[in-house]
Order: sequence, then C-alpha cells, then structure tokens
Amino acid sequence: MANVLVVYHSQEYGNTAVMAEAVAEGLRAAGCDVDLFNTNEGRFDITRFPQYAGVAFGSPDYDGYLAGGLKTFLDDHYIYKVHTQLQGITGKPYVLFYSHGGGGKVKEALISVLKHYGIGALVAEPVGSHGRPTPQVQEQCISLGKLLAEAILT
Ligand SMILES: Cc1cc2nc3c(=O)[nH]c(=O)nc-3n(C[C@H](O)[C@H](O)[C@H](O)COP(=O)(O)O)c2cc1C
Repeated sequence: MANVLVVYHSQEYGNTAVMAEAVAEGLRAAGCDVDLFNTNEGRFDITRFPQYAGVAFGSPDYDGYLAGGLKTFLDDHYIYKVHTQLQGITGKPYVLFYSHGGGGKVKEALISVLKHYGIGALVAEPVGSHGRPTPQVQEQCISLGKLLAEAILT
C-alpha cells in the first residue's frame, strides 16, 4: 500500500489542520496509508522522507509567505537532497493546500518554492480556505487527496 505524507503547519486557529485531516480522508478513501505531521509540533526527521510515495503540503498565509515550520521542512529536504543524493528523495507527486485571512498570496509562494526545491510534480490545482474551512472547502480537500492518490497509484 502506498504511504503518503501530509505535512502542514497549523497554529493560530487549527484551520490548516482541518484541511489536512480532509486531505488525509481523501487519500485513505482511495486506498493510501497516511502519516500526518504538523510542523508546529516539532521538526520532521527528513531522513524518513524517502519512504513516501507522495506528499500533500499545507500552510497558513503568513505575510504572503509560508509558515516557518513548513519552510524548515523544505530547507531540510533541500539540504538532505544535495548532500546525500539518496534515491526516493525527489520525483514525488504532490498537492498543496493553504488557509488565509483574506490575502492568500501564500499560494504563489508555495508553488514557487516547491518548484524551486525540486520535490517532484504538482498534480492538481491548490485548494485554499479563507478562515475556517467550510464543508465545501473540506470536500475540495477530500477531492485533492483523491487526486494525489490517483497520481500515485496509476
Ligand atoms: C503571523 C501571522 C501572519 C499572518 N499573515 C497573513 C497574511 O499576510 N495574509 C492573510 O491573508 N492572512 C494572514 N494571517 C492569517 C492566517 O493565515 C489565517 O488565520 C490562517 O487560517 C491560520 O491558519 P491556522 O489556524 O492553521 O494556523 C496571518 C496570521 C499570522 C499568525
């Protein structure tokens, strides 16, 4: 069974965490195993990253950019990639989700940094939420998880 990582930062209201849970629900419904990791709760051990078949990244909008915890994850990934060249560190399908308070520029920041750091391929349009994720946004997140699973399993 494909193992998928949902890594996100959620701190202020838990908005991004609600989205992460919905993405995980979609992934599980499509037959994937899921690990959820909130970078507000610690630093992810990047040496575990090669085991995952795909990734969903989530962040709140912090001044038009991604949250520091998620950026640290991406920096660790980049350094690990450059210095180990381990198989399985790149080439992963991924999707993006974000929450914001009315801005939302983090979407472009996420797209740009993920592309630049060479994780793999973005396989679906990012899903955003203004404030608390509505039932409709949660459905979009479930669909996002299913789309990622499809890209991994087909
Ligand atoms: C330090 C900080 C900076 C923020 N900057 C922005 C911003 O520039 N634009 C915006 O739309 N929302 C901004 N917000 C609002 C958050 O993106 C929004 O409340 C988000 O849903 C919080 O996600 P969380 O509950 O998962 O932590 C900011 C919040 C914080 C705490």
